[in-house]
Amino acid sequence: MAWWFSENSLDVWTVAMILVAAGIYLSALVATGAVLFRLAFPRLPDHDRRRVARMGVLSAWAGVILILFQWSLEAGYLGGGNIAAATNPMLLGIVFDGASGGRLILVVAGLLLVQAIQLNNLAFSKTANSLSLVGVLLVMLAFVQVGHTVNTPRLVLAVLLIVHLMAAAFWVASLWPLFHLVGQHYNHGNTARILTRFGQLAMGGVGVLVLAGVTLATLLTGGLTPLLTTAYGQFLIGKVLIVAVLLLFAAANKWRLVPAFESGDATAPRRLQRSIALEVVLVVVILLITAVLTRVTSPNG
Ligand code: HEM
Repeated sequence: MAWWFSENSLDVWTVAMILVAAGIYLSALVATGAVLFRLAFPRLPDHDRRRVARMGVLSAWAGVILILFQWSLEAGYLGGGNIAAATNPMLLGIVFDGASGGRLILVVAGLLLVQAIQLNNLAFSKTANSLSLVGVLLVMLAFVQVGHTVNTPRLVLAVLLIVHLMAAAFWVASLWPLFHLVGQHYNHGNTARILTRFGQLAMGGVGVLVLAGVTLATLLTGGLTPLLTTAYGQFLIGKVLIVAVLLLFAAANKWRLVPAFESGDATAPRRLQRSIALEVVLVVVILLITAVLTRVTSPNG
């Protein structure tokens, strides 16, 4: 990997593209995952329900701003990497006319609809749930409009990526609400129940996430040799190693810290919060590596 960075002296423009892509991943996963988390835990205490909704709405707006910024960056890149090109109406039009335009519309529409979870407390909660789920679906569909998964077998790759992203969204969006829940000094029994249920759901979710990711990697690279010899393959290995560390933290939470929390160990809440905070850091690193994978490397070498 280090050789790749030294051979491809990264310009500011490319670094900005990677950071913005990672930001879009994070905001889209948190916004859509907030909807999935609320549906998986319909009986959250009121203030926690509101916290999850607020997190979803803020992430959705961050995603909208970042995707518009990415549009401008892509125009700038097309025009040779300068600010004038980034605001040039003709270049912006060219980018919009391509697949990126369709993706932009789907992401913005999806992220606006996702915000219906805020209405979830009101009488029309069924409509709100359906609207926010349509939003989730639109955001997921946006991801399969561009990138390496538009190659054949397109349908298989698209389904695998959507499954991969839904599972990732649920996991990533749960971290902030769980961090807050374990820090509360009241309603210990209810928090313990939520943590246990989360552990059960996360086991299945992580299995699906890893299985879909590994199948995608196999289909995209086509075997072990490209995995070892191309920059794409090496970044992918880097991603899998960080995911493995993340899984170790998740396993320690499920099998060590959550049982300690349930049994009333006074140090467990702090240790759980520390572990969740570290998981957030690892997720950010994983998303940065994913942005490098999708923006500046190719499975074909
Ligand atoms: C064993 C674990 C994993 C493997 C093997 C894996 C593999 C992959 C592969 C091959 C892709 C397609 C990349 C491309 O289009 O070139 C992908 C996409 C993606 N992965 Fe993973 N992944 C794993 C875990 C994760 C985790 C834990 C997260 C989030 C926390 C994550 C987030 C993403 C995102 C956001 C994309 C979408 C990229 C895009 O289409 O623009 N992945 N993953």
